[in-house]
Amino acid sequence: MLEYLRRYASHFMHLNLHRTPRGPLIVYLELTKRCNLMCKFCDIWRWDDHQDELSTEEVFSLIDQVKDTAIVFHIFGGESLLRKDMEEIVKYANQAGLSTGITTNGTLLTPKRSQSLAHAGLKHIRISLDGTQQIHDNLRGKKCHTTIMNNIAHIQQHHPTMQVGINYMLNKKNLQNTQEFLTELNRLEIADIKITPMHTIYPFNYTGQDKSALLFHKDDIPQLQKLFLALYADRRIKTSKYFLEGFLQRLAGQRKEHICRAGDIEIDIDCTGNMYTCYGLQHPVGNIRTTSVKDIWQSRRMNRARKKVSNCTACWDDCHVDPAAVFSAKAVLSEPQKYIHEIRSVLKRS
Ligand SMILES: C[S@@+](CC[C@H](N)C(=O)[O-])C[C@H]1O[C@@H](n2cnc3c(N)ncnc32)[C@H](O)[C@@H]1O
Ligand code: SF4
Ligand code: SF4
Repeated sequence: MLEYLRRYASHFMHLNLHRTPRGPLIVYLELTKRCNLMCKFCDIWRWDDHQDELSTEEVFSLIDQVKDTAIVFHIFGGESLLRKDMEEIVKYANQAGLSTGITTNGTLLTPKRSQSLAHAGLKHIRISLDGTQQIHDNLRGKKCHTTIMNNIAHIQQHHPTMQVGINYMLNKKNLQNTQEFLTELNRLEIADIKITPMHTIYPFNYTGQDKSALLFHKDDIPQLQKLFLALYADRRIKTSKYFLEGFLQRLAGQRKEHICRAGDIEIDIDCTGNMYTCYGLQHPVGNIRTTSVKDIWQSRRMNRARKKVSNCTACWDDCHVDPAAVFSAKAVLSEPQKYIHEIRSVLKRS
């Protein structure tokens, strides 16, 4: 636990002295692009080339390379639970001292699978739910809401060591349903809900398919402001005010007061080993199959990519933008209780 605090402090100091930190604090790994749903807002399930995924050993090597500087190792996809070696990877990352989590659509979290994940030591699971039954199933392209709710209830009852958080992707089709959905979640006693407004950065939008009916515009700001006021008062919502206000500013076309720090704090690795400051910028800065994470992290190319991030307005994605709030005194002082919770929840996993 003290070691995590030391890493945070070292990172904070390096960034404030405008030096490159020793390595990323958060590592996001896309374990696969394969997926079992057909979401209307995401194109990953349309990907058809699945030849070249990182092997278990290559993922172990990645973990070995980041374990001395990182705090969080978070696995996403595609649907990462389609990988049969997930348990081995979770176990390895845990033993390496990383705070390990996964994001999943929740459909494959059967009692048997949650048992084996709990056994592997997984302590943090983020499950995506985008509304009450009809809305969720419609957005996700398959009937799955009931299964997911049952899977969550089972985990809470049988595996209390696994913290379940919900990812809610806010868009035009579920905006009106949000309060009803939050009331429904009371039934599951979920204490951690993160809200991310839909965006269209790669790879969610690689087919260029029209998703405009789901996206917010300037005209939606009054309705969103009303919703956000209710969210600020809801203790279960762990998305920061910094992030939600930044989204409204961006929608209004105002100069960004809140900035993205992708590449300073975290890195993305895709399932073929490409490393990015942010996946959304599409240009890999190197590949971990041929170059070490450390060499890529310290490279000129990475520095050039970091500069692109600081000017980027392409999205407002909580995975990349919200972690930056911890490094903003203004954000932390405006909602200290939220940051204390965030830090506690990471430390609890150590
Ligand atoms: C790409 S998914 C991968 C994990 C898993 N398949 C799932 O759906 O949770 C990771 C997160 O991104 C969110 N997401 C997908 N498409 C999005 C979009 N266009 N805008 C914002 N978030 C999106 C999902 O809801 C999920 O919480
Ligand atoms: S959001 Fe997740 S479940 Fe939906 S298509 Fe994308 S990767 Fe698959
Ligand atoms: S704002 Fe940040 S997370 Fe979004 S696309 Fe740009 S660099 Fe990536």
